[in-house]
Amino acid sequence: MRIAVIPGDGIGQDVTAEAVKVIRRVGEVFGRSFDLEMLPYGADYYLQTGITLPPNGYAMLRDEFDAIYVGALGDPRIPDMRHGRDILLGTRFELDLYVNHRPVKLLHERLCPLKGRGTADVNMVIFRENTESLYVGIGGRFKAGTEDEVAIQEDINTYKGVHRIIRHAFEYAKANGLTKVCMADKSNAVTHGHALWQRVFKEVAPQYPGIEPTHWFIDALCMQMIKNPAQFEVIVTNNMFGDIITDVGAQLQGGLGMAASGNIHPGRTSLFEPVHGSAPKYAGKNVANPVGAILSAALMLDFLGLRQEAAAVEAAVKESVVTVNGTAEIGGTLGTRETGDYIAAAIKAPKA
Ligand code: IPM
Ligand code: MN
Repeated sequence: MRIAVIPGDGIGQDVTAEAVKVIRRVGEVFGRSFDLEMLPYGADYYLQTGITLPPNGYAMLRDEFDAIYVGALGDPRIPDMRHGRDILLGTRFELDLYVNHRPVKLLHERLCPLKGRGTADVNMVIFRENTESLYVGIGGRFKAGTEDEVAIQEDINTYKGVHRIIRHAFEYAKANGLTKVCMADKSNAVTHGHALWQRVFKEVAPQYPGIEPTHWFIDALCMQMIKNPAQFEVIVTNNMFGDIITDVGAQLQGGLGMAASGNIHPGRTSLFEPVHGSAPKYAGKNVANPVGAILSAALMLDFLGLRQEAAAVEAAVKESVVTVNGTAEIGGTLGTRETGDYIAAAIKAPKA
């Protein structure tokens, strides 16, 4: 299996080293070989060469690899995030990775900021549409920089785009024995664009008889995620709202450093990355929490069909969190590297 690895910037480098360590350990324990190709793209590379991704970059990632792993992108020397847009958002769009799969799973109750909530209360998957919404960049600025400036950015919603993500959410629920799918939009105010979400949700839901469809407007959903997170199993929403609520979800499971994601087009080369950014001030200090990065590697293994391997990584992470063998974010005293060592060593082969 060929995997492109782009550690990127800041703590992306730190946490990717640990994810790679864990993937290699999985290889040893399960007798598999992973061909990890380290790629240099990121802020330093861009500043030195002027290249964000090479001209054939997207095709190369798509055609030469089974999966792509990214650490984080973002650097104060590149305020417009040009390289990040090309490497991360560009790959989402060019490879048509329409599913942003973001689990929200609390691994120990002490990490939850909500009073009296435990692991049974916070366990959901958020499906964020990943190729449309305000992210497509259609729009422009007129009389920019003056007091007459007009700035327009269009919220794109297509039948195809809305349909495929809603269908994916139901298919995931069905395949995993889940019984509820919640859709969130803002159709009470965004009356054209989000009416399409209403229409498609009502069209698709009846095709899944054992699954209860529910709906919240996005503002109420934010409130409900805090008030009663136990009501959610699967949430599906648009790109912009999904960006926001997955940060809320990250806090529910103990912080941004815990959160994993997959940018997926089922059946095609897909991209896996922790939800957090490059956190430049913590870079290279051996303090970043590698759990989100390692869980993103587990999502990648699962996507590659290696279910047992993915489960073994998740179990090792859970053990490290429960026994407080981790960084300050989980209440531990270990560094980034020592956390990676602990988790790698905790990976066990399945019982025969
Ligand atoms: C995320 C990030 C990105 C996004 C940024 C870095 C453009 O916040 O993956 O959630 O908005 O999608
Ligand atoms: Mn985000």
